[in-house]
Amino acid sequence: MLEMLRAKVALMKKNNQMKNDYLDDYRLYKRWNYKNPETKTQCSREARILRQTHVIEKGMSLSAPRKGFGLEKINDLFRFLDDYITLGFPTDSIPFQNAICVITKYIEFQKNNFNFVNEELNRKIEKYLKYVPEIFESGIKHASLSEMQKSINGQFPEFFMSRHSIRQFSDKTVAYDDIKKSVQLAMKAPTACNRQACRVYYYSDNRTNAELGKLIAGNTGFENEVKNYLVVTSDLSAFYDSFERNQIYIEAGLFAMALVQALHYNGIASCILQNGETPEKNTQFKQICDNIPENEKIALFIAIGYYKDEFNYAVSKRKNINDVLISK
Ligand SMILES: Cc1cc2nc3c(=O)[nH]c(=O)nc-3n(C[C@H](O)[C@H](O)[C@H](O)COP(=O)(O)O)c2cc1C
Repeated sequence: MLEMLRAKVALMKKNNQMKNDYLDDYRLYKRWNYKNPETKTQCSREARILRQTHVIEKGMSLSAPRKGFGLEKINDLFRFLDDYITLGFPTDSIPFQNAICVITKYIEFQKNNFNFVNEELNRKIEKYLKYVPEIFESGIKHASLSEMQKSINGQFPEFFMSRHSIRQFSDKTVAYDDIKKSVQLAMKAPTACNRQACRVYYYSDNRTNAELGKLIAGNTGFENEVKNYLVVTSDLSAFYDSFERNQIYIEAGLFAMALVQALHYNGIASCILQNGETPEKNTQFKQICDNIPENEKIALFIAIGYYKDEFNYAVSKRKNINDVLISK
């Protein structure tokens, strides 16, 4: 009896601790997310610029880009650049300079593909060119399946660097065996105490994939090209105590990284798609899938398809190594 009571009190304490830890997460995120006007870190301003720049490079990387797309987004991007300058952050940073390079590439892209010229945009970009000593590789890159295959068989750095998020796919459905081989490799991803909480759901029927495609938020502009989505979940019931509360996302992240590499190795192009969705939308996702239990959280989706013979992808330029690796 006394033992039971002790166990009950211990559980109550643990649950209370969990509530406080989640509240602490909430407070930290509320304080530091970049929509909070109080947040004025260099990282927040660069993230806003990178995200907006990515919208432009992504638009150019689609199979059917639109004439003059994204002009409003570019105007927002100019505002973000001005704000970055006003706050006095270094203008030799890659995210800042990359934005300028991508806008320049966009101007060229629109002229070459659609003979579309926007004088106002040409005038506006002039003001920023002084910050970029030289326009570097940015925006989109053209690639071919044969080049890609060479890199896949190359040394690790070449293989690793040749994986990109791809938003153009061939119209062939991905064979189950190719997915299976890839998941088998991805299962080598490290997991907390080897608990292996992730699962991958694959649906061979067109209806489920089409319905997922309609509900997923990040596939705009290439939704019609995706034949298959993988759903990566993590099982909450593999973890205990408050300190493990984020483990499902850490594991799913590592697993997904291994998986996209493994898919690439097996000749399958992919694009991770976020699932930062509301509980209501997650219920809808689960209704569509119809076989994901309540104890599993959908961490993310992966759009997959075979590479086309020729395609474009977004460069997604990385930051400078010295801004990422900090040594003391
Ligand atoms: C957690 C996560 C969520 C992502 N969500 C989306 C998305 O919703 N739509 C999309 O087109 N790309 C998405 N991506 C792909 C990123 O845009 C891409 O990884 C990034 O620009 C770097 O480019 P790379 O993968 O080609 O190196 C996501 C990537 C991650 C890791």
